[in-house]
Amino acid sequence: MLIFNNKADLIAQLSAHLSSKSSIGFVPTMGALHKGHLSLLEKSVQENDITVISIFVNPTQFNNPEDLTKYPRTLDADVEKIKTVSDKILVFAPSVNEMYDGNTVSGHFSFDGLEHQMEGNHRPGHFDGVGTIVKKLFEIVTPTNAYFGEKDFQQLQIVKKLVEKTGMDINIIGCPISRETSGLAMSSRNERLSEEDKDKAAVVYKILSRARELFATESVENVKKYVYDAFEALPEFSMDYFEITAEDDLVPANTKENKKYRGFIAVFLSNVRLIDNISLN
Ligand code: PAF
Repeated sequence: MLIFNNKADLIAQLSAHLSSKSSIGFVPTMGALHKGHLSLLEKSVQENDITVISIFVNPTQFNNPEDLTKYPRTLDADVEKIKTVSDKILVFAPSVNEMYDGNTVSGHFSFDGLEHQMEGNHRPGHFDGVGTIVKKLFEIVTPTNAYFGEKDFQQLQIVKKLVEKTGMDINIIGCPISRETSGLAMSSRNERLSEEDKDKAAVVYKILSRARELFATESVENVKKYVYDAFEALPEFSMDYFEITAEDDLVPANTKENKKYRGFIAVFLSNVRLIDNISLN
């Protein structure tokens, strides 16, 4: 398995594929890989001649220094997991200096307002950091297809917007959320939860699923009230937000129109921030 720490070496390796017009699939990650990441890799391997995965904990997208310090870093275990999908996958695991050339700051992006909602609102600067690193990675890897999980649905919409606005010729492919059998959305941050907390965290999906049922007959306001009340009754959780938005503009909805809606949640459990979302119609 080839592991690159240096962008010039990866670019050199990929140049042979570019000249033969092979398709390049790309799965950008921050490591601590779980089955959700592996399902993205499997899809990429099926659909492309070559697959690249990046493993890079991007400092500029963390607005909370403690979250950055505590973010799990498990490169050796990640490489073993990648091998279970294919040992032909190219792994790009650069240092912060390699990606930022000694200047670890974000650029500023307009994503036509998508960046001001939910995660953007609650994690200032987060999407500037995501836009900065995804753009850099796309320029290095030059993928044909790039795969993102719908667990970060807002990020997925923002990356689509980034590609549209920069004119990059890359297909952004959203993939369904991978869940534990309990319903808990798979996430690298789950590694910071105790087994007991993982059991407790399964309630997030139960509440979202009930919200989806209610959405068929109840108003947006009533569905939101149900979710807030449900978490109010669970003192071990602290609510960051629950929003219902149309999938295209991500602007919090007050009424229902003939659009596709999603419910988005962020809650804290034992100081770990969990996010999840569900299609409501
Ligand atoms: O979703 C992630 O893991 C990260 O936000 C990404 C897209 C790899 C950028 O750092």
